[in-house]
Amino acid sequence: MAEADKSSPGAADAAAALTLSEYLVAFVLEIVRSPVNIGLVAVIVLLVYKIFFSSHKNQEAAAPIKQLPKLRRDFTVEELRPYNGTGPDGRILVAVNGNVYDVTKGARFYGPGGPYGAFGGRDASRGLATFSVVPGKDEYDDLSDLQTEEMNSVKEWEEQFKERYDLVGKLLKPGEPHTNYSDEEEEEGSQQDNEPKSKTE
Ligand code: HEM
Ligand SMILES: *[C@@H]1O[C@H](CO)[C@@H](O)[C@H](O)[C@H]1NC(C)=O
Ligand SMILES: *[C@@H]1O[C@H](CO)[C@@H](O)[C@H](O)[C@H]1NC(C)=O
Repeated sequence: MAEADKSSPGAADAAAALTLSEYLVAFVLEIVRSPVNIGLVAVIVLLVYKIFFSSHKNQEAAAPIKQLPKLRRDFTVEELRPYNGTGPDGRILVAVNGNVYDVTKGARFYGPGGPYGAFGGRDASRGLATFSVVPGKDEYDDLSDLQTEEMNSVKEWEEQFKERYDLVGKLLKPGEPHTNYSDEEEEEGSQQDNEPKSKTE
């Protein structure tokens, strides 16, 4: 009785160890045998791979976007044209509602081959108002024929640009002089134009 009592826990351990390895083998065999399970495992592996791959890729995609020096100047339509992402620094500017924004960080939208590439280096106002991504006029567009609703839509779009991108300057009408912003270099991100600091108002 005492012997049996002594040996039975050892036997139980061995049995447990056996069952564990047997169980693992059975588990793997069970998975490998069933096509449905193989499919599920493949899906899981693919998803895990994708998650890792995409987060890795995002980091890689974020890194090469160089921080270009901030631009602050006005542009005529002609001066704006080269900034469509094909220049040496890849800078992309888009005008909306008379203001020029630096959308370089949105290159996947406005860069060459992007869905809104036609806006790069151009005044996008008319296109945004009329939901058209076809390049607009080559010369200055005063937008005077747009309906009130269309102009409101342009202004709403500009709010989105304002939130996302840096304001560079104005889109100049023909003959309108360039503003000299060189005395402005104060706070970064301040979108006040040439307003001198005055807290007494
Ligand atoms: C079938 C039609 C369209 C689809 C499915 C579509 C889809 C999208 C999506 C998903 C985004 C957000 C992308 C992101 O933030 O990751 C976006 C952004 C945008 N879309 Fe569209 N779009 C369409 C048509 C248009 C049209 C016709 C215009 C202009 C005329 C337009 C102008 C824009 C602009 C300006 C942005 C903002 C890009 C930025 O973040 O700077 N889209 N669109
Ligand atoms: C970008 O602008 C340059 C110069 O204006 C022009 O030659 C080129 O065709 C444009 N490329 C795209 C993709 O718009
Ligand atoms: C802009 O104004 C500054 C002085 O405030 C001057 O030194 C500079 O030459 C001007 N630049 C242009 C392009 O007129």
